[in-house]
Amino acid sequence: MTHSDRPADHKKPLAARSSGPLSGTVRVPGDKSISHRALILGALAVGESRISGLLEGEDVLNTARAMRALGASLERTGDYVWSVKGVGVAGFAEPAAPLDFGNSGTGCRLVMGAVAGCPITATFDGDASLRSRPMRRVLDPLQLMGARLGGGGKAGRLPLTLIGARDPLPIVYRTPVASAQIKSAVLLAGLAAPGVTTVIESEASRDHTELMLRHFGADIVSTPEGPHGRRIALSGQPELHGAQVVVPADPSSAAFPVVAALIVEGSELVLPDVMTNPLRTGLFTTLREMGGLIEQDDLRGDAGEPMARLCVRASKLRGVEVPPERAPSMIDEYLVLAVAASFAEGTTIMRGLQELRVKESDRLEATAAMLRVNGVKAEISGDDLIVEGRGHVPGGGLVTTHMDHRIAMSALVMGLAADKPVRVDDTAFIVTSFPDFIPMMRAAGAEFS
Ligand code: S3P
Repeated sequence: MTHSDRPADHKKPLAARSSGPLSGTVRVPGDKSISHRALILGALAVGESRISGLLEGEDVLNTARAMRALGASLERTGDYVWSVKGVGVAGFAEPAAPLDFGNSGTGCRLVMGAVAGCPITATFDGDASLRSRPMRRVLDPLQLMGARLGGGGKAGRLPLTLIGARDPLPIVYRTPVASAQIKSAVLLAGLAAPGVTTVIESEASRDHTELMLRHFGADIVSTPEGPHGRRIALSGQPELHGAQVVVPADPSSAAFPVVAALIVEGSELVLPDVMTNPLRTGLFTTLREMGGLIEQDDLRGDAGEPMARLCVRASKLRGVEVPPERAPSMIDEYLVLAVAASFAEGTTIMRGLQELRVKESDRLEATAAMLRVNGVKAEISGDDLIVEGRGHVPGGGLVTTHMDHRIAMSALVMGLAADKPVRVDDTAFIVTSFPDFIPMMRAAGAEFS
């Protein structure tokens, strides 16, 4: 993609209208979190890693470009198959130009961690959405480990320059919010530190970094901490070796066809190889509590990540209360859950959503706005979102996407079962996470125009 082809440059409006039953098999692309991590750990390993099923979305491609700029060799050897030859722990070379992460908070924050443990200076940048997101949350612990801030860093917003530590220190760090990005940044910096780097989280967040570090040969131990938390201890300066990674389908992308199948009458969709790591499946748990018919078979696992085939059938949904401790396991799914809640009978209360305010957009406000403009009653009370489901959605609204892929996909899903079409002002950002979303949904019967 050349600079002028980036999502921000061309607005792509689209409308979704009431569709006949959705049917068939939807092959959701590779998991975004795992794809970023496979590229980064492959780049820090000695020898060759082979990654299959990589998400070739713009967010992950930006991480691939960053790994090249930092000295790793990456080659696309087939469809979704990549070979990475790494430089070894702490072996990154100084990049010649700023690293541009586009729309991706995950790519940016994880690579900040990996760079913080290397004796190099790198400038990090991104698009307008990423430039507005907080970076202090990763810079604070990375500074404790010995990294320093150059230009722009004080404000904690991109663009900023990070000066990696020559002799990084292992730390014990308690994350202030449940965030896999903060945890992962500290662990990736800790790879280069002597001794044990420890991260303590009071609510467990997705553990893909821990599972994959172990898969690449690191010594990492995770133990329970309190009722919902974890203590993760990584022994520094391991020799990471190249590994094979099979990336399962992304449950956060599967969320859109799954909710579409539940709300469009008569639908039945099959989704193979969807990752079922329990720290990612809060949406499926919630949809089942709402009465959603989601069956699971063909259970398998790779590199410690479980996966299964999902079979979803249109269902009568009812409102539920979603507890705050479930939020980390479905943090990216509240937008599309709110769509399901709008079609349910009764009230859905989603608690503890403060982190939604710092995603690709302020997703708490954006979700309420998406529902209201389509005739659904939605209220924000503190950090909670309350949706009044009436069993149907009037629709007819124009949804503003705020450079946020998940707003665009959620609004399009809503339009497939709403009384009147739902329009979105811009679908261009869908390429960041699910490039084939529109053709795949069309092939299953979705009406977009
Ligand atoms: C991600 C972690 C989550 C999530 C993001 C991907 C990751 O962010 O929202 O889409 O891959 O680590 P936080 O860790 O900041 O909650």
